Amino acid sequence: MAETERARSGGMKWLTELVNEWRAAGQRIGIVPTMGALHQGHLSLVQAARAECERVVATVFVNPTQFAPTEDLAKYPRTLVADLEMLAAERVDAVLVPTEDEMYPPGFSTYVQPPEVSQKWEGAVRPSHFRGVATVVLKLLNMTRADVCYLGQKDYQQVAVVRRMVADLNVPCEIKMCPTVRDPDGLAMSSRNRYLSKDERQIGLSLSRTLFAAEKQIRSGAKNGPELSSWMREQLIASGVSQVDYAFAADADTLEPLTEVRLPLVLLMAARVGTTRLLDNLVVRQG
Ligand code: PAF
Repeated sequence: MAETERARSGGMKWLTELVNEWRAAGQRIGIVPTMGALHQGHLSLVQAARAECERVVATVFVNPTQFAPTEDLAKYPRTLVADLEMLAAERVDAVLVPTEDEMYPPGFSTYVQPPEVSQKWEGAVRPSHFRGVATVVLKLLNMTRADVCYLGQKDYQQVAVVRRMVADLNVPCEIKMCPTVRDPDGLAMSSRNRYLSKDERQIGLSLSRTLFAAEKQIRSGAKNGPELSSWMREQLIASGVSQVDYAFAADADTLEPLTEVRLPLVLLMAARVGTTRLLDNLVVRQG
């Protein structure tokens, strides 16, 4: 894919020219921001964008500002050649693979203060994470002038943060959340799943199992939010996860924990299996 190669070597000027051309022709632009190490979950976002937009830009950038110094930035999987092949097969129009220097040149010092909804759950465990996410996503939206941005439900809180940010900062981009893609055994697809040993993967399945079992309890009339949250936590611990960071029934919009179960809600969880941190969630709606 010629455009991909130009994206890698031509940097931002090339992208700006391309985007200007597309916009002048009145074409709708969809963006799929990624950190690479692509899997079917990412490709489902590209497919949604392909179905709805005349032009699709994917970005591959392992964003250092969303990793704390203690986290796995250096070890984060990088599979660019395979990623570009997968994106070409999905007929994306361009892939932006910026360097760290292009995104954060010397002197870079402006960051987005992320919205209130970033404070709890992931934000409490990873205090600078959403500042980095909000900053890089805003930069990517500005660079691509995308009409629609496609994000996966697996990172439910991330979608809530980005939605609030574009609303608060009047960014003319619609944020679309696409369903989590699961392996046949139920594990939510994630670039980090490749770190799991065979045994750890079995333990990792307890996240989706617990979510679906909790949904059943809600459908059968469970009403007490804290009790449901404790039950989810106990299930995860009993299955052998090393640490539960959080497991909660929360309001689907505000992500505030629910004292009384009321729909729609989201069951949110994050747990460590060995040294790998896994996230999963399930939205439970009426009917
Ligand atoms: O979800 C991710 O992969 C990242 O947080 C994102 C949205 C690409 C920003 O770096």
